Amino acid sequence: MKFFVDTADIAEIRELAATGLLDGVTTNPSLIHKSGRKFMEVIAEICSVVPGPVSAEVVALDHETMMKEAAVLRKIADNVTIKVPLTIDGLKTCKALSEDGAMVNVTLCFSANQALLAAKAGATFISPFIGRLDDNGMDGTQLIADIRLIYDNYGFETEILAASLRHSMHVLECAKIGADVITAPPAVIKSLFNHVLTDKGLAAFAKDWEATGQSIL
Ligand code: E4P
Repeated sequence: MKFFVDTADIAEIRELAATGLLDGVTTNPSLIHKSGRKFMEVIAEICSVVPGPVSAEVVALDHETMMKEAAVLRKIADNVTIKVPLTIDGLKTCKALSEDGAMVNVTLCFSANQALLAAKAGATFISPFIGRLDDNGMDGTQLIADIRLIYDNYGFETEILAASLRHSMHVLECAKIGADVITAPPAVIKSLFNHVLTDKGLAAFAKDWEATGQSIL
């Protein structure tokens, strides 16, 4: 399973990239706003730090303008992935861009039927938002399972990029179901490294090692 981080905070991206475990980055207009930085500049900087797919989202609502925005974004770097919304115009744009060799991430997916349409449009990634479904009293991880079943039924190569993750249990559920990718905020990814028994065990080993009076180096 690939790990993407969902942020436009370059310091957080650099820290996670240094672990060697980061496969890509997703951003959206809200994250760009939060960063307080210029969209094009921050995407260029992220692309220089992370060689994997970096999602940059179009903001137009009509196909023609989406295509123009995508052309500008594609010039930033080869690893820019164009993020389009799951609308008729978004999927028209997805089909045109993927036929032209671009990576496309279809975002704001909340149903398995929408995911089916995105795969037919040639999406590289489909982004089902599981946290937002949970927030609204629906079952986000069930959506990931439904999409997995449908994509496997028909051999679609579109990768399931589970998005809007809120906590480590979401990551675990997505891994068990077989999501291809998860994208999560830095804090959720960092939480995966932690376990109270790891901390406790490490403290005990350190204490006993000190008592031996030895050193390795
Ligand atoms: C994915 O690409 C989105 O940017 C993101 O996961 C949305 O998450 P949110 O529901 O926490 O805003």
